[in-house]
Amino acid sequence: MTVDLSVDFCGIKHENPFILAPSPSTDNLDLLIQAFEAGWAGAVLKTVAVDSRVVSRVFPMVTRVEQDAAFIGLQNIDLVSEHTVETVERNVRILKERFPTKIVIPSIMAFAKEDWQSLTKRFIAAGADIIECSIWHPHGTEWTLCTKVEEPVGTEQIASWVKEAAGDVPVIIKLSALDSDIIATAVAVERSGADGVSAINTIKSITGVNLDTLIPYPNIAGLSTYGGLSGPALKPIALRCTAEIAQKVDLDIAASGGITTWKDGAEFLLLGANTLQICTAVLRFGLGIIDEFKQGLEGWMREKGFQNLTEVIGKSLPYLVEHSRLPRGIQVVSTIHKELCNGCGVCLSACRAGGHQAIIWTDGFPQVEADKCIGCGICRAMCFLKAITLIRPSRAKVHV
Ligand SMILES: Cc1cc2nc3c(=O)[nH]c(=O)nc-3n(C[C@H](O)[C@H](O)[C@H](O)COP(=O)(O)O)c2cc1C
Repeated sequence: MTVDLSVDFCGIKHENPFILAPSPSTDNLDLLIQAFEAGWAGAVLKTVAVDSRVVSRVFPMVTRVEQDAAFIGLQNIDLVSEHTVETVERNVRILKERFPTKIVIPSIMAFAKEDWQSLTKRFIAAGADIIECSIWHPHGTEWTLCTKVEEPVGTEQIASWVKEAAGDVPVIIKLSALDSDIIATAVAVERSGADGVSAINTIKSITGVNLDTLIPYPNIAGLSTYGGLSGPALKPIALRCTAEIAQKVDLDIAASGGITTWKDGAEFLLLGANTLQICTAVLRFGLGIIDEFKQGLEGWMREKGFQNLTEVIGKSLPYLVEHSRLPRGIQVVSTIHKELCNGCGVCLSACRAGGHQAIIWTDGFPQVEADKCIGCGICRAMCFLKAITLIRPSRAKVHV
């Protein structure tokens, strides 16, 4: 069976759904050329402002976020592109001349209407396929590179200015999960006439505090500041935003936030994303990760009988309902699979701490007292060996 990975996003054909998200990787022409040669379908260039020279970056600008030594994300205090608008325009021209079928998306940030519109026109004249607007950015506001907009009214206004200048060229607005109501903002984007959204940007965060020096990370010569969280830690929030926007708003969605493997990408597509933007995974594993993304997605689609991405996009949305519509009265109980259990006791302590005291200890192993178990799932959630399933007592083989 032939599988077609191409996708239509805002009316523009992409050879596959994998796009580089704006980051230092997309601020460098050589890297962009390598990325296109490696098979990425397109790139959103690092955000550029009218006058990037007012910005003074500090280093280090990226910190690892971890839990029990495992990588769960990055935090960055990067600002906008290190290039002038002229350089980015030239890069767009070079990329489009050399790779006419790849999708080149400048990301712009501005303060006044004239600036939003002139940046849009300049990049379209240079050959941009789509314009992405970085509307709200904590550091951008501080450095007066962009307006601190009142959501959703401010977003609607900026989106309509940019769309007015862009004409037939698609405009997408990058949304932030920091917004108190991302759906209201997405609806405002729809009203503005813009074509899509890119969701989500990093989330303002603090990585941690060094308990010796008492200085929060990142330590910049003795001081610290807030930064944007990206990577795996962001994925559940980004999935929720993607699904909610797909359910409630009629706009194309470029999803970003924690896409690390092709499986993550497939989940975002199933929840309504039309394309996928990837940043942290590229910084972590390199541009070559595109091969695994494409092969993994293609193999899974073949196995599931999906011939193209139109059959995949949004396929999981009908299963997402309001809490009140979830089926009631279906009892499940925990079952411990002894052959997988190493007797660590984490389930016992979890059940004692927050469950219904339904796990007892027998012969060095946990055992569930079915009449006490309400099927809350805390023990299963804590079992890192995945030795616990929830089953319906009446249909002993139905695992939930
Ligand atoms: C170092 C760094 C720089 C970034 N710069 C930008 C930027 O200039 N403009 C922008 O819209 N997003 C920027 N982002 C956010 C990413 O484009 C992306 O939306 C976010 O990191 C979530 O995706 P990820 O989890 O795949 O990294 C940056 C992220 C990082 C880590």
